[in-house]
Amino acid sequence: MTLTVPPSPNPSPEPDPRSLLILYATETGNAQDVADRVARHCRRIAFQCRVVSAEAFSAPELLSEPLVVFVVSTTGSGVEPRSMSAFWAQLLRADLPPDLFEDLSFAVFGLGDSAYEKFNWAAKKLSRRLASLGAHEIVDRGEGDDQHPLGLDGAFQPWSERLIAKLVELHPLPPGVEVIPETSIPPPRVAIDVAPETEAERKTGEPETDDLLEADKAFHTAVVRENTRLTAEGWYQDVRHLEFEFDGRDNIQYAPGDVALIHPVFPAAEVQDFLEILHWDDIADTPITITRTMEDQTLPDHLPLYPQRTTLRTLIARHVDFRAVPRRSFFQYLRYFTSDEREVETLDDWLSPAGGDDLYEYCHRPRRTIHEVMSEFRNVRVPKDYIFDLLPPLRPRQFSIASSNKENPKIVQLCVAVVKYRTTLKVPRRGACTTYLAGLKPGDKLRVAIQKGMIALPPSPSIPVICVGPGTGVAPMRALIQERIHDGSSSNTLYFGCRSATQDEHYAAEWAALAARQQLVYRVAHSRDGKEGEARVYVQDRIREDAKRVWELLRSGAWVYISGSSNKMPAGVKAALADVVEREGGYARHEAVRYVDGMIREGRFFEECWS
Ligand code: 2AM
Repeated sequence: MTLTVPPSPNPSPEPDPRSLLILYATETGNAQDVADRVARHCRRIAFQCRVVSAEAFSAPELLSEPLVVFVVSTTGSGVEPRSMSAFWAQLLRADLPPDLFEDLSFAVFGLGDSAYEKFNWAAKKLSRRLASLGAHEIVDRGEGDDQHPLGLDGAFQPWSERLIAKLVELHPLPPGVEVIPETSIPPPRVAIDVAPETEAERKTGEPETDDLLEADKAFHTAVVRENTRLTAEGWYQDVRHLEFEFDGRDNIQYAPGDVALIHPVFPAAEVQDFLEILHWDDIADTPITITRTMEDQTLPDHLPLYPQRTTLRTLIARHVDFRAVPRRSFFQYLRYFTSDEREVETLDDWLSPAGGDDLYEYCHRPRRTIHEVMSEFRNVRVPKDYIFDLLPPLRPRQFSIASSNKENPKIVQLCVAVVKYRTTLKVPRRGACTTYLAGLKPGDKLRVAIQKGMIALPPSPSIPVICVGPGTGVAPMRALIQERIHDGSSSNTLYFGCRSATQDEHYAAEWAALAARQQLVYRVAHSRDGKEGEARVYVQDRIREDAKRVWELLRSGAWVYISGSSNKMPAGVKAALADVVEREGGYARHEAVRYVDGMIREGRFFEECWS
């Protein structure tokens, strides 16, 4: 493929200088959300905005764009989102001329987490590469950080203000056109109308509502077969083993490392309460139709797939996340739709440049939910058409599959820690999806999609593997070990870490059985079973104890897998492996570190971590 502009039917159309392309690369949907917010801001200064996924865009198309804002997230291990890989590969080609993009102006906002080593790596690499191809970066890159007390807003707010100021400087508003103030109500993204009655409804009097997700063909219906608690009763953490069985006709295919996508559904009572708070309860079950009002605005992923008809109750129960901590723009919408004096005063204060700290104290520190905030602003009346402006989409969540497809055809098993924690508020915070999963009963149905994972298996069952998976990090390791044993392998080693032999040693009996059959070497670190005051024992300590054996395995070409939910654990394990190489292999320290990095390059070292 060459980078040339496709011949245009319209000879040399001058690109409109007020035309702005916002290109996003997202993993979980957050970057898409930010891209929408950029569009909302830029429309206020009379820019024509298009919001497009990098997945649907090729690098040569950049040649016909005068101005592009990139919104790019970086995943834990520093890689760019998968949706951007093709675009990125095109940009990286060595034969591109250094002035290729000299007519392109751009800005970049990255989403990342500074708890990881390669913070905002994808965004950084992108700005550098575009600059090296002659493009002009018009404002300093914004770097969103999950660790920031205000979340994304911490970096987004100042960055978007810089962007808007720069754009107005470069492209002054046409005569007679004014900046639309943030305080004037923007039009809603969709129009919601009462649907005409169908034939069936006329006959039965029943509303004919659709389960919207049935329209998304990537999802399959599964039946819950098992939902058991793996941790001891009374233990601080509730970890579940779940089993789902797919319909006989569905040929579910997955490999070790693949993830299951699950769409949560909120409990009916919570949905009803929220509908009442919104004052939408009287129309909650009326069939409605949704129409987009703007071509260039993104909507929740599956919205284009929506059948025409649905109800507000279905939308609230399945498609928007009212348990999320609200963003700044949410408060802006509350402000638009209240005229209560006290509410106006509070909201104006929070939305003022000096109000950020108060908003943080109110909302982020206690992790107050949208539902809770709405219930305190009783005089707000949001028109239903603003549903997708007010409320973020409820996205499917990813869970590493804990079973092997070869060993369990038509079955998917998960190992899930139920997210629940306390803040200063009385009611504990609960994860939307894990709480939903924990509440499922055998016989219940749910929708599951399979997404490709990032790990590969050694080409032969005789090549040894070393799996390191403390806590629920054991999920993909269990899939991998089951699959290897199914394929006839017995050279499998698992390092598992948990707090206590009696409380949270997931699948202990299974590992013992495999070890007894010589199919697995099982090594466990119980971090809190030691005496009072003793140091905690972690998987990396077991690896160091086993230095001789681990070195033998590495030397004979073992593949290594690390998976878990702790940010610091992978670095600790890598350091322990480097110790092993140094001590047993007789390498100098820097060579030992290079040896471990070399395994990553050789493609026999995989990390699958989440926070
Ligand atoms: P801890 O909670 O007692 O500190 C699964 O969560 C296991 O991983 C627990 O035993 C936990 O120990 C342990 N863990 C926590 N941080 C870790 C780290 N940096 N490296 C390895 N294991 C860790």
